[in-house]
Amino acid sequence: MAENKDLLSKFDPLIQERETLLSTGVMDPYAIVMDEVKSPTEAICNGRETILLGTYNYMGMTFDGDVLQAGKDALDNFGAGTTGSRVLNGTYQGHKECEDALKEFYAMDHAMVFSTGYLANLGIISALAGKDDYIILDIDSHASIYDGCAMGNAQIVAFKHNDSEALEKRLRRLPEEAGKLVILEGVYSMMGDIAPLKEMVAICKKYGAMILVDEAHSMGFIGENGRGVCEEAGVIDDVDFIIGTFSKSVGTVGGFCVSNHPKFEIMRLVSRPYIFTASLPPSVVATAATSIRKLMHSGNKRAHLWENSKTLHKGLRDLGFNLGTPEAQSGIIAVIVEDMMQGAMLWQALLKNGLYVNLARPPATPQGMTLLRCSLCAEHTVEQVQKILGMFEAAGKEVGVI
Ligand SMILES: Cc1ncc(COP(=O)(O)O)c(C=O)c1O
Repeated sequence: MAENKDLLSKFDPLIQERETLLSTGVMDPYAIVMDEVKSPTEAICNGRETILLGTYNYMGMTFDGDVLQAGKDALDNFGAGTTGSRVLNGTYQGHKECEDALKEFYAMDHAMVFSTGYLANLGIISALAGKDDYIILDIDSHASIYDGCAMGNAQIVAFKHNDSEALEKRLRRLPEEAGKLVILEGVYSMMGDIAPLKEMVAICKKYGAMILVDEAHSMGFIGENGRGVCEEAGVIDDVDFIIGTFSKSVGTVGGFCVSNHPKFEIMRLVSRPYIFTASLPPSVVATAATSIRKLMHSGNKRAHLWENSKTLHKGLRDLGFNLGTPEAQSGIIAVIVEDMMQGAMLWQALLKNGLYVNLARPPATPQGMTLLRCSLCAEHTVEQVQKILGMFEAAGKEVGVI
């Protein structure tokens, strides 16, 4: 009998790398347990009172009273789940209300709700770009964008991160008559930098390319009405599709695409990740719809979040940390530590002192850097931000990063 080939042996290098890291006494960064969550900014994490600075809960909607009540009512009135696809028995009145809230939020004609943002990218990208089409994307695009490309049949062309000239160079080389979809993100979540959308959208128009912008990290916060970087850059009417998620500013789970394209509704019948998975539970779409409607009138919260982001950015820079952007561009501030071990030690020292941030390590990070990604919340108080800076100062000195 032939010997079984262990298909997991291809992961041996990763297993080895993990074991080496853990053998130095660093806690497992991917095994954090939130024992209790007290508010959008505080939790008991691994048994310790912890300030949360790595949740992407930008607008702090997870504990909003109206949002919670809407979820509880829907749970009582519609049950725990739909047990069905959006195209069969899984579209409830709540899913429609959620899509109506999105249409109003973005002032767009069409909205399609998916079960996650990951599935929204998979579903829209794979359905849009066919065999003879081209997808042109920023090389630092999110995994869900790459996976959407992998699921479809289009030719994939990547260009240097946030480089308008590189985008134009790629577009110029493609056959004039070919279908082209350019995929951009409003905010890039690794470094917290924003895309030069005004310039890039003009280039796309020049070459007749359709444009999809993933606004996962900007919805609710950036732009006068919180519609994202497209709104801030004044190009929201020039992009063809906006993808977003409910798992960040909206404070629950789910994903969506909005568009003004007159044929957009056909996407419901051709998008496999929309059709072949169960729809969101009624309580989730009720919380999402309520949250989205409240985000339309959250100018004060947006202003406070900007203050928090700017204060943290300046404070960290003044302390001597190396940051991902020259100034605060979004709700994400990335602290760069070149030495992988030192990065892990800094992350651990912060956690031990009661501060949770996201640790991102190679190969997930651009150019092999270790990043401590901080994401601010509109519910962080001025005092909390000062406390956070004190924690960074102590931990940074302890491990010798500053
Ligand atoms: C840019 C971007 N797009 C899409 C997603 C996927 O969103 P979701 O968590 O709803 O699957 C994320 C989440 O991390 C993201 O950062």
